[in-house]
Amino acid sequence: MTELCVFEGDGVGHEVIPAALQVLRHVAPDIRIRPAAGGWSCFREQGTPLPEESLALARRCRAVLFGAVNSPSWPVENYFSPVVRLRRELQAFANLRPTRYLPVPTARAGVDLVIVRENTEDLYVGNETTKDGGQTGVAQKVITRGASERVARLAFELASRTGRKKVTIVHKSNVLPRSDGLFRQAALEISEYFTSIETDELLVDTAAYWMVKEPMRFDVVLTPNLYGDILSDMAAAWGGGLGMAPSISVGEDVAIAEPVHGTAPDIAGRGIANPTASILSVALLLRHHWQRAEDARRIEQAVHETLRHGEHTGDIHSDNALSTQEFTDQVCAHMD
Ligand code: NAI
Ligand code: MG
Repeated sequence: MTELCVFEGDGVGHEVIPAALQVLRHVAPDIRIRPAAGGWSCFREQGTPLPEESLALARRCRAVLFGAVNSPSWPVENYFSPVVRLRRELQAFANLRPTRYLPVPTARAGVDLVIVRENTEDLYVGNETTKDGGQTGVAQKVITRGASERVARLAFELASRTGRKKVTIVHKSNVLPRSDGLFRQAALEISEYFTSIETDELLVDTAAYWMVKEPMRFDVVLTPNLYGDILSDMAAAWGGGLGMAPSISVGEDVAIAEPVHGTAPDIAGRGIANPTASILSVALLLRHHWQRAEDARRIEQAVHETLRHGEHTGDIHSDNALSTQEFTDQVCAHMD
């Protein structure tokens, strides 16, 4: 039995995740949906942002769909980011964030890249302290050879399996030769096993410049956690916006699909959020985790057709904007 553990989370998670599940049921009614609690409102109610039973359910299902959660920008005792914890607990060590042109006026024609982001370490180990009575903040950046090699191997394997030509390693080794330098070195060593793939490297600031100026020069981008987080939101603009950007975190026989965007507090509760990012994240789960490429293709095709007919939500264009539900119904109609 195939099971999917679902965290709606907070904010627009309550709108876009049910939309994505409606589409999933349409192509794969055999998959059992198992809801799980997690996030900021869960923390307020239960005292933890990730209850043990939610974690146990995620472990059992091996496949997770995660909406988004509100995380405060100030320290809150006993709070931690449940999705960062989940990625680490399940060892979903690589986050894949594809950006591909979609037929909307906000997207850039010709863009087709995928960012492969290391998902378990770097500054996201969350080891942060204060010194000097609060006048100095210190955060630890951790890069290990093991984690760098496994994400590099996955990036090169993905490139060769999906017919891509080039992997660009993005880092800041000139300033951080011991941490980013180790990531770079490990990635270059792995690249030697993949002679048919071109290997390139860029410093992260230069990569940001080229990502804005000429995104077509990128194919697969391999990078540590923080740079990948930032660059992928930037790349998402070329795919039509945050409301359109899907992602999946993968490990050994485990996957967490999640839209790149957050809880969108400015529009939450109004039924107008764009569900495309979540719908396409479900397609990534079908293709990369369940090996159901045909079901994934059906979903992607239907999203494409819906947008091509000028049907869209308000983040794309305010004229003739559809609600989350209307847009989702259109996607389902295009699958029939
Ligand atoms: P955000 O991604 O929630 O919103 C940024 C902008 O994009 C807003 O104008 C929003 O309306 C728009 N947007 C986002 N998703 C959309 C959608 N599906 N349809 C239409 N418009 C959409 O980022 P922000 O405002 O920086 O963060 C809000 C909260 O979300 C914070 O508490 C943050 O910690 C959290 N967050 C959670 C993430 C996660 O759980 N994976 C990821 C990013 C942020
Ligand atoms: Mg982000």
